[in-house]
Amino acid sequence: MNTHLGRAAVAVAASAGILSLAACGAADEGDGRPGGARGEAIKVGLLLPENQTARYEKFDKPLIEKEIAAITRGKGEVVYANAKQDATTQNSQVEAMIANKVHVLIIDAVDAKAIAGAVRKAKDAGIPVVAYDRLAEGPIDAYTSFDNEDVGKVQGKALLEALGDKAKDGQIVMMNGSVTDPNAKLFKAGAHFLLDGKVNVGKEYDTVDWKPENAHTNMAAALTALGKNKIIGVYSANDGMAGGIITALKAAGVSNLPPVTGQDAELAGVQRIVAGEQYMSVYKPYAPEAEAAAEMAVALARGEKVSGIINQMVDSPTTKAVPSVLVPGVALTRSNVKSTVVDDGIYTVEEICTDKYRAACEEIGLK
Ligand code: BGC
Repeated sequence: MNTHLGRAAVAVAASAGILSLAACGAADEGDGRPGGARGEAIKVGLLLPENQTARYEKFDKPLIEKEIAAITRGKGEVVYANAKQDATTQNSQVEAMIANKVHVLIIDAVDAKAIAGAVRKAKDAGIPVVAYDRLAEGPIDAYTSFDNEDVGKVQGKALLEALGDKAKDGQIVMMNGSVTDPNAKLFKAGAHFLLDGKVNVGKEYDTVDWKPENAHTNMAAALTALGKNKIIGVYSANDGMAGGIITALKAAGVSNLPPVTGQDAELAGVQRIVAGEQYMSVYKPYAPEAEAAAEMAVALARGEKVSGIINQMVDSPTTKAVPSVLVPGVALTRSNVKSTVVDDGIYTVEEICTDKYRAACEEIGLK
Protein backbone atom coordinates (compact mmCIF):
# COMPACT_ATOMS: atom_id res chain seq x y z
CA MET A 1 0.00 0.00 0.00
CA ASN A 2 2.72 2.47 -0.89
CA THR A 3 0.99 5.60 -2.11
CA HIS A 4 4.29 7.18 -3.18
CA LEU A 5 3.26 10.30 -1.29
CA GLY A 6 6.18 11.77 0.64
CA ARG A 7 6.34 12.26 4.38
CA ALA A 8 4.95 15.76 4.50
CA ALA A 9 1.93 15.03 2.32
CA VAL A 10 1.24 11.84 4.19
CA ALA A 11 1.44 13.71 7.47
CA VAL A 12 -0.96 16.36 6.20
CA ALA A 13 -3.31 13.79 4.72
CA ALA A 14 -3.16 11.56 7.76
CA SER A 15 -3.78 14.43 10.16
CA ALA A 16 -6.83 15.32 8.10
CA GLY A 17 -7.86 11.68 8.43
CA ILE A 18 -8.36 11.24 4.73
CA LEU A 19 -5.62 8.98 3.46
CA SER A 20 -8.11 6.51 2.11
CA LEU A 21 -8.09 3.31 0.13
CA ALA A 22 -8.51 5.13 -3.15
CA ALA A 23 -4.97 6.48 -2.91
CA CYS A 24 -3.70 2.98 -2.37
CA GLY A 25 -5.85 1.78 -5.24
CA ALA A 26 -4.28 4.28 -7.61
CA ALA A 27 -0.81 3.02 -6.79
CA ASP A 28 -1.85 -0.62 -6.72
CA GLU A 29 -3.10 -0.43 -10.29
CA GLY A 30 0.51 -0.41 -11.38
CA ASP A 31 1.24 -3.54 -9.42
CA GLY A 32 -0.63 -6.09 -11.46
CA ARG A 33 -4.25 -5.22 -12.06
CA PRO A 34 -4.92 -3.50 -15.37
CA GLY A 35 -5.18 0.18 -14.44
CA GLY A 36 -8.45 1.58 -15.68
CA ALA A 37 -9.01 2.62 -19.28
CA ARG A 38 -5.38 3.24 -20.12
CA GLY A 39 -3.35 0.99 -17.94
CA GLU A 40 0.24 2.13 -17.79
CA ALA A 41 1.06 3.56 -21.23
CA ILE A 42 0.13 7.09 -20.19
CA LYS A 43 1.46 10.18 -21.95
CA VAL A 44 1.74 13.10 -19.52
CA GLY A 45 2.30 16.68 -20.71
CA LEU A 46 4.34 18.65 -18.14
CA LEU A 47 4.52 22.43 -18.48
CA LEU A 48 6.73 24.48 -16.15
CA PRO A 49 6.80 28.29 -16.11
CA GLU A 50 10.41 29.41 -16.14
CA ASN A 51 14.02 28.39 -15.65
CA GLN A 52 15.63 31.35 -13.86
CA THR A 53 14.48 29.80 -10.55
CA ALA A 54 16.47 26.63 -9.96
CA ARG A 55 13.70 24.47 -8.47
CA TYR A 56 11.84 23.70 -11.67
CA GLU A 57 14.48 21.79 -13.60
CA LYS A 58 16.50 20.68 -10.60
CA PHE A 59 13.64 19.27 -8.52
CA ASP A 60 10.10 19.48 -9.91
CA LYS A 61 10.77 17.99 -13.36
CA PRO A 62 12.95 15.04 -12.34
CA LEU A 63 10.74 14.22 -9.34
CA ILE A 64 7.58 14.16 -11.45
CA GLU A 65 9.29 12.05 -14.12
CA LYS A 66 10.54 9.61 -11.51
CA GLU A 67 7.12 9.24 -9.92
CA ILE A 68 5.32 8.78 -13.24
CA ALA A 69 7.83 6.05 -14.10
CA ALA A 70 7.28 4.39 -10.71
CA ILE A 71 3.48 4.39 -10.94
CA THR A 72 3.41 3.20 -14.55
CA ARG A 73 6.27 0.71 -14.15
CA GLY A 74 8.34 2.58 -16.72
CA LYS A 75 5.64 2.60 -19.37
CA GLY A 76 4.47 6.18 -18.87
CA GLU A 77 5.95 8.99 -20.94
CA VAL A 78 6.47 12.62 -19.90
CA VAL A 79 6.49 15.29 -22.63
CA TYR A 80 8.09 18.44 -21.21
CA ALA A 81 7.96 22.15 -22.06
CA ASN A 82 9.33 25.19 -20.20
CA ALA A 83 7.69 28.54 -21.06
CA LYS A 84 10.69 30.65 -19.95
CA GLN A 85 8.32 33.12 -18.28
CA ASP A 86 6.29 33.80 -21.46
CA ALA A 87 2.52 33.28 -21.12
CA THR A 88 1.92 33.29 -24.89
CA THR A 89 4.57 30.61 -25.37
CA GLN A 90 2.92 28.53 -22.68
CA ASN A 91 -0.48 28.72 -24.38
CA SER A 92 1.12 27.46 -27.61
CA GLN A 93 2.84 24.69 -25.68
CA VAL A 94 -0.51 23.51 -24.32
CA GLU A 95 -1.99 23.52 -27.82
CA ALA A 96 0.96 21.52 -29.13
CA MET A 97 0.45 18.98 -26.38
CA ILE A 98 -3.26 18.67 -27.15
CA ALA A 99 -2.34 18.05 -30.82
CA ASN A 100 0.24 15.53 -29.61
CA LYS A 101 -2.61 13.69 -27.86
CA VAL A 102 -1.26 13.62 -24.34
CA HIS A 103 -3.62 11.87 -21.92
CA VAL A 104 -3.28 14.41 -19.12
CA LEU A 105 -1.59 17.76 -18.47
CA ILE A 106 0.31 19.03 -15.42
CA ILE A 107 0.56 22.83 -15.74
CA ASP A 108 2.47 25.35 -13.63
CA ALA A 109 1.11 28.55 -15.18
CA VAL A 110 3.22 31.59 -16.03
CA ASP A 111 0.04 33.63 -15.79
CA ALA A 112 -2.87 32.00 -13.97
CA LYS A 113 -5.52 34.01 -15.83
CA ALA A 114 -3.96 33.91 -19.30
CA ILE A 115 -3.80 30.10 -19.23
CA ALA A 116 -7.57 29.67 -18.69
CA GLY A 117 -8.43 29.47 -22.41
CA ALA A 118 -5.84 26.76 -23.00
CA VAL A 119 -7.15 24.80 -19.99
CA ARG A 120 -10.63 25.00 -21.53
CA LYS A 121 -9.28 23.70 -24.87
CA ALA A 122 -7.70 20.73 -23.11
CA LYS A 123 -10.95 20.03 -21.29
CA ASP A 124 -12.87 20.18 -24.59
CA ALA A 125 -10.40 17.67 -26.04
CA GLY A 126 -11.08 15.34 -23.10
CA ILE A 127 -7.67 15.93 -21.49
CA PRO A 128 -7.75 16.43 -17.68
CA VAL A 129 -5.57 19.16 -16.17
CA VAL A 130 -3.67 19.16 -12.87
CA ALA A 131 -2.64 22.68 -11.81
CA TYR A 132 0.88 22.48 -10.39
CA ASP A 133 2.09 24.85 -7.66
CA ARG A 134 0.15 27.85 -9.06
CA LEU A 135 -3.64 27.73 -9.18
CA ALA A 136 -4.38 28.04 -12.91
CA GLU A 137 -7.79 29.46 -13.78
CA GLY A 138 -10.21 27.58 -16.01
CA PRO A 139 -11.77 24.11 -15.56
CA ILE A 140 -8.89 22.31 -13.87
CA ASP A 141 -9.47 18.86 -12.36
CA ALA A 142 -6.98 18.89 -9.48
CA TYR A 143 -4.32 21.08 -7.84
CA THR A 144 -1.20 20.56 -5.79
CA SER A 145 0.92 23.19 -4.07
CA PHE A 146 2.19 24.36 -0.71
CA ASP A 147 0.15 26.28 1.81
CA ASN A 148 1.23 29.51 0.20
CA GLU A 149 -0.28 32.00 2.61
CA ASP A 150 1.50 30.09 5.35
CA VAL A 151 4.78 30.38 3.38
CA GLY A 152 4.34 34.18 3.58
CA LYS A 153 3.68 33.90 7.31
CA VAL A 154 6.81 31.80 7.83
CA GLN A 155 8.81 34.52 6.04
CA GLY A 156 7.18 37.36 7.99
CA LYS A 157 7.65 35.59 11.33
CA ALA A 158 11.32 34.94 10.64
CA LEU A 159 11.93 38.57 9.67
CA LEU A 160 10.31 39.75 12.92
CA GLU A 161 12.45 37.33 14.90
CA ALA A 162 15.58 38.64 13.18
CA LEU A 163 14.62 42.26 13.91
CA GLY A 164 13.74 41.58 17.54
CA ASP A 165 13.03 44.72 19.56
CA LYS A 166 14.51 46.91 16.81
CA ALA A 167 11.62 46.18 14.44
CA LYS A 168 10.48 49.80 14.34
CA ASP A 169 13.91 51.43 14.44
CA GLY A 170 13.99 51.99 10.68
CA GLN A 171 12.28 50.87 7.49
CA ILE A 172 11.88 47.55 5.77
CA VAL A 173 11.60 47.02 2.03
CA MET A 174 9.12 44.46 0.66
CA MET A 175 9.92 42.71 -2.61
CA ASN A 176 6.94 40.61 -3.64
CA GLY A 177 6.69 38.24 -6.62
CA SER A 178 4.94 38.64 -9.97
CA VAL A 179 1.31 39.80 -10.10
CA THR A 180 0.56 37.12 -12.72
CA ASP A 181 1.29 34.43 -10.11
CA PRO A 182 -1.51 33.82 -7.59
CA ASN A 183 1.06 32.42 -5.16
CA ALA A 184 2.79 35.81 -5.03
CA LYS A 185 -0.45 37.34 -3.81
CA LEU A 186 -0.73 34.69 -1.08
CA PHE A 187 2.93 35.06 0.03
CA LYS A 188 2.37 38.81 0.22
CA ALA A 189 -0.88 38.45 2.20
CA GLY A 190 0.72 36.02 4.67
CA ALA A 191 3.74 38.29 5.17
CA HIS A 192 1.59 41.40 5.66
CA PHE A 193 -0.57 39.52 8.14
CA LEU A 194 2.44 39.17 10.42
CA LEU A 195 4.37 42.35 9.64
CA ASP A 196 1.66 45.02 9.53
CA GLY A 197 1.72 47.25 12.58
CA LYS A 198 5.01 45.75 13.76
CA VAL A 199 7.39 47.28 11.19
CA ASN A 200 7.52 50.36 8.97
CA VAL A 201 7.35 49.45 5.29
CA GLY A 202 9.41 52.14 3.55
CA LYS A 203 9.04 50.77 -0.01
CA GLU A 204 7.14 47.86 -1.48
CA TYR A 205 7.34 46.39 -4.99
CA ASP A 206 5.59 43.69 -7.04
CA THR A 207 8.48 42.32 -9.08
CA VAL A 208 7.84 41.95 -12.79
CA ASP A 209 8.28 38.31 -13.86
CA TRP A 210 9.93 37.35 -10.54
CA LYS A 211 13.23 38.39 -12.14
CA PRO A 212 16.28 38.77 -9.85
CA GLU A 213 17.53 41.67 -12.00
CA ASN A 214 14.22 43.52 -11.50
CA ALA A 215 14.53 42.96 -7.73
CA HIS A 216 18.07 44.35 -7.96
CA THR A 217 16.85 47.50 -9.77
CA ASN A 218 14.00 48.01 -7.30
CA MET A 219 16.32 47.53 -4.33
CA ALA A 220 18.76 50.08 -5.77
CA ALA A 221 15.84 52.55 -6.07
CA ALA A 222 14.75 51.84 -2.48
CA LEU A 223 18.30 52.45 -1.23
CA THR A 224 18.39 55.81 -2.97
CA ALA A 225 14.95 56.81 -1.73
CA LEU A 226 15.28 55.67 1.89
CA GLY A 227 19.01 55.92 2.51
CA LYS A 228 21.25 52.93 3.00
CA ASN A 229 21.45 53.31 6.78
CA LYS A 230 17.69 53.40 7.27
CA ILE A 231 16.90 49.95 5.86
CA ILE A 232 16.82 47.41 8.68
CA GLY A 233 15.38 44.42 6.83
CA VAL A 234 14.16 43.18 3.45
CA TYR A 235 11.23 40.88 2.83
CA SER A 236 12.09 39.01 -0.38
CA ALA A 237 9.51 36.52 -1.64
CA ASN A 238 12.12 34.09 -3.01
CA ASP A 239 15.82 33.24 -3.10
CA GLY A 240 16.39 34.30 -6.71
CA MET A 241 15.28 37.83 -5.85
CA ALA A 242 17.16 37.75 -2.54
CA GLY A 243 20.32 37.25 -4.64
CA GLY A 244 19.56 40.42 -6.66
CA ILE A 245 18.69 42.35 -3.49
CA ILE A 246 21.90 41.40 -1.67
CA THR A 247 23.98 42.38 -4.70
CA ALA A 248 22.25 45.78 -4.72
CA LEU A 249 22.91 46.24 -0.98
CA LYS A 250 26.60 45.42 -1.44
CA ALA A 251 26.86 47.69 -4.50
CA ALA A 252 25.49 50.54 -2.37
CA GLY A 253 28.25 49.95 0.16
CA VAL A 254 26.14 48.32 2.88
CA SER A 255 28.66 46.22 4.77
CA ASN A 256 26.51 45.09 7.69
CA LEU A 257 23.75 43.40 5.70
CA PRO A 258 20.20 43.61 7.10
CA PRO A 259 18.19 40.37 7.40
CA VAL A 260 16.82 39.32 3.99
CA THR A 261 14.21 36.58 3.59
CA GLY A 262 13.76 34.11 0.73
CA GLN A 263 12.09 30.93 -0.40
CA ASP A 264 12.94 27.73 -2.32
CA ALA A 265 16.08 26.60 -0.49
CA GLU A 266 18.08 27.14 -3.69
CA LEU A 267 21.69 26.03 -3.33
CA ALA A 268 22.94 29.63 -3.76
CA GLY A 269 20.40 30.76 -1.14
CA VAL A 270 21.45 28.05 1.32
CA GLN A 271 25.09 29.06 0.81
CA ARG A 272 24.25 32.71 1.47
CA ILE A 273 22.43 31.62 4.64
CA VAL A 274 25.45 29.62 5.79
CA ALA A 275 27.66 32.66 5.10
CA GLY A 276 25.27 34.94 7.06
CA GLU A 277 24.37 37.07 4.02
CA GLN A 278 20.74 35.94 3.74
CA TYR A 279 18.74 35.41 6.92
CA MET A 280 16.36 32.67 5.87
CA SER A 281 14.63 30.74 3.12
CA VAL A 282 11.50 28.60 3.11
CA TYR A 283 12.30 24.97 2.52
CA LYS A 284 9.43 23.45 0.59
CA PRO A 285 9.90 19.68 0.28
CA TYR A 286 9.28 19.28 -3.45
CA ALA A 287 8.90 15.49 -3.45
CA PRO A 288 5.43 15.34 -1.87
CA GLU A 289 4.17 18.08 -4.20
CA ALA A 290 5.59 16.37 -7.29
CA GLU A 291 4.40 12.93 -6.18
CA ALA A 292 0.87 14.19 -5.58
CA ALA A 293 0.83 15.76 -9.06
CA ALA A 294 2.03 12.54 -10.68
CA GLU A 295 -0.45 10.38 -8.81
CA MET A 296 -3.38 12.64 -9.56
CA ALA A 297 -2.37 12.92 -13.23
CA VAL A 298 -2.16 9.15 -13.68
CA ALA A 299 -5.46 8.59 -11.84
CA LEU A 300 -7.22 11.21 -13.97
CA ALA A 301 -5.75 9.81 -17.20
CA ARG A 302 -7.16 6.43 -16.22
CA GLY A 303 -10.57 7.95 -15.58
CA GLU A 304 -10.25 7.37 -11.83
CA LYS A 305 -11.17 9.71 -9.01
CA VAL A 306 -8.54 11.58 -6.99
CA SER A 307 -10.66 11.84 -3.86
CA GLY A 308 -8.43 9.43 -1.95
CA ILE A 309 -5.22 11.34 -2.73
CA ILE A 310 -6.29 14.85 -1.76
CA ASN A 311 -6.28 16.63 1.60
CA GLN A 312 -8.56 19.57 0.85
CA MET A 313 -10.73 21.47 -1.61
CA VAL A 314 -9.59 24.85 -2.97
CA ASP A 315 -11.59 27.49 -4.89
CA SER A 316 -10.02 29.33 -7.82
CA PRO A 317 -11.55 32.55 -9.17
CA THR A 318 -13.23 30.46 -11.90
CA THR A 319 -13.65 26.98 -10.43
CA LYS A 320 -15.05 25.96 -7.07
CA ALA A 321 -13.98 23.02 -4.91
CA VAL A 322 -10.90 21.85 -6.82
CA PRO A 323 -9.60 18.58 -5.27
CA SER A 324 -6.17 19.55 -3.89
CA VAL A 325 -3.09 18.40 -2.04
CA LEU A 326 -1.38 21.20 -0.08
CA VAL A 327 1.96 20.56 1.61
CA PRO A 328 3.49 22.69 4.44
CA GLY A 329 6.85 24.50 4.14
CA VAL A 330 9.33 25.28 6.94
CA ALA A 331 11.74 28.09 7.78
CA LEU A 332 15.36 27.38 6.89
CA THR A 333 17.95 29.41 8.80
CA ARG A 334 21.60 28.94 9.77
CA SER A 335 20.47 26.79 12.68
CA ASN A 336 18.71 24.02 10.77
CA VAL A 337 20.51 23.55 7.44
CA LYS A 338 21.49 20.03 8.45
CA SER A 339 18.10 18.83 9.72
CA THR A 340 16.29 20.10 6.61
CA VAL A 341 18.03 20.10 3.23
CA VAL A 342 20.96 17.90 4.19
CA ASP A 343 19.06 15.22 6.10
CA ASP A 344 16.35 15.16 3.38
CA GLY A 345 19.04 14.49 0.76
CA ILE A 346 18.39 17.72 -1.16
CA TYR A 347 22.07 18.75 -1.03
CA THR A 348 25.17 17.07 0.27
CA VAL A 349 27.44 18.90 2.70
CA GLU A 350 30.09 18.87 -0.08
CA GLU A 351 27.72 20.71 -2.43
CA ILE A 352 27.00 23.43 0.14
CA CYS A 353 30.42 23.68 1.75
CA THR A 354 32.63 24.51 -1.22
CA ASP A 355 35.95 26.26 -0.55
CA LYS A 356 34.28 29.67 -0.31
CA TYR A 357 31.88 28.47 2.42
CA ARG A 358 34.07 25.98 4.29
CA ALA A 359 34.88 28.25 7.24
CA ALA A 360 31.24 29.35 7.61
CA CYS A 361 30.14 25.71 7.45
CA GLU A 362 32.55 24.80 10.22
CA GLU A 363 31.17 27.59 12.40
CA ILE A 364 27.73 25.98 12.28
CA GLY A 365 29.03 22.45 12.57
CA LEU A 366 28.20 21.48 9.01
CA LYS A 367 30.64 18.78 7.97
C1 BGC B 1 6.75 29.34 -6.59
C2 BGC B 1 8.08 29.68 -5.96
C3 BGC B 1 9.00 30.32 -7.00
C4 BGC B 1 8.29 31.45 -7.74
C5 BGC B 1 9.11 31.96 -8.93
C6 BGC B 1 6.16 30.57 -7.22
O1 BGC B 1 4.92 30.29 -7.79
O2 BGC B 1 5.87 28.80 -5.62
O3 BGC B 1 8.67 28.50 -5.44
O4 BGC B 1 10.15 30.85 -6.39
O5 BGC B 1 7.03 31.02 -8.22
O6 BGC B 1 9.17 31.02 -9.95
